[in-house]
Amino acid sequence: MRVAIAGTGFIGAVHARSARLAGGRLVGVAASSPERGLLAAAALGAERSFDTAEELVESPDVDVVHICTPNHLHLPLAQAALAAGKHVICEKPLAVDDRGAEELVEAAVSAGKMTAVPFVYRYYPTVQEARERIRSGATGPVRLIHGGYLQDWLLRPSDDNWRVDEQLGGASRAFADIGSHWCDLVEHVSGHRITRLCARTFLSVPERVTEDAVSFQFETDGGAIGNALVSQISAGRKNRLSFEIDCSEVALSFDQEEPETLWIGERERATLLKRDPGTLSAPAARLATIPAGHPQGYNDSFAAFVADAYAAAVTGEAPDGLPTFQDGLRAARITAAVLSSARTDSWVDVPDTAPLTAGTVDA
Ligand SMILES: NC(=O)c1ccc[n+]([C@@H]2O[C@H](COP(=O)([O-])OP(=O)(O)OC[C@H]3O[C@@H](n4cnc5c(N)ncnc54)[C@H](O)[C@@H]3O)[C@@H](O)[C@H]2O)c1
Repeated sequence: MRVAIAGTGFIGAVHARSARLAGGRLVGVAASSPERGLLAAAALGAERSFDTAEELVESPDVDVVHICTPNHLHLPLAQAALAAGKHVICEKPLAVDDRGAEELVEAAVSAGKMTAVPFVYRYYPTVQEARERIRSGATGPVRLIHGGYLQDWLLRPSDDNWRVDEQLGGASRAFADIGSHWCDLVEHVSGHRITRLCARTFLSVPERVTEDAVSFQFETDGGAIGNALVSQISAGRKNRLSFEIDCSEVALSFDQEEPETLWIGERERATLLKRDPGTLSAPAARLATIPAGHPQGYNDSFAAFVADAYAAAVTGEAPDGLPTFQDGLRAARITAAVLSSARTDSWVDVPDTAPLTAGTVDA
């Protein structure tokens, strides 16, 4: 797999590492300027730099493009990459609004290439274990889904980043940036889909325009209810993505900052399941790549995601659970519903997201 990466900041470097681990050859990178591209190519060990991301996505020497730029460039770069016949891994959010994400799914269907979105929290073995326990029926039906995603990097009025500029980040910031991960994760694990929601947004610094936090409650197609708080202004919380799913017999709880354990609640006892490939279910053990007691983390989940995406590109079969552009569209629709609910002070339906019938991977 000849790999090229557009955008070489925090997540571009994580993609580069994961691409190598999956057997990819990092043929090129592009950054915000040719000079930065050269520096990034040296830092990441890429064979060359491209002067622009537009040049990179059209290069005949590239099989798969990773799009890791600020959000406003995702749609045009992914469209250009698909038009040039590339497989595409595009960061979330797929576009700055749901219409853009729809356009991208349409382009993916026509192109017939592998298209994936890094909702990588799916790839923790303990998350997969929770999913398997619910899917097998061992927990009983899902009733309640709750939790949140808390960060603090915008706590102070002076804190800033391109994400705060709605031209670059999009109309939603906290929700599109991290609420999208939370919704994807709980839908993935519970097997339920959020059908309706009611949201409140919170802005701590008026100049920022886009929301710092969202509180929302929802209903699912499986008859469950839930709520969550998404925030980028929660002091001391760095990346606390957590959920609890209360089923009729068992509750399951996961915290991304302590990903080696899964909390299992029963009426008689509560236990902490340790990530151990010897005792996990087969789908979870597949992701447990080193023995128990040797901690795995975010980088490992990312590597597992990229390996599955490349396998889908090569074989034409998407491994179970691979997050595709369809899942990116779903996140965009939930985000649009959150903004609409907050604006209209009402419950809002989340449109159903039909399966991607073609274009997930090569036929
Ligand atoms: N899936 C995840 O877990 C995850 C985690 C972090 C970030 N992200 C997503 O990744 C994207 C990047 O986030 P980040 O945290 O790495 O941001 P960042 O600010 O660290 O990096 C952005 C990079 O894009 C580059 N860039 C800017 N304009 C460019 C252009 N015209 N052409 C090419 N490169 C350009 C910048 O030079 C910089 O290297 C965002 O869309 C974000 O939502 C996803």
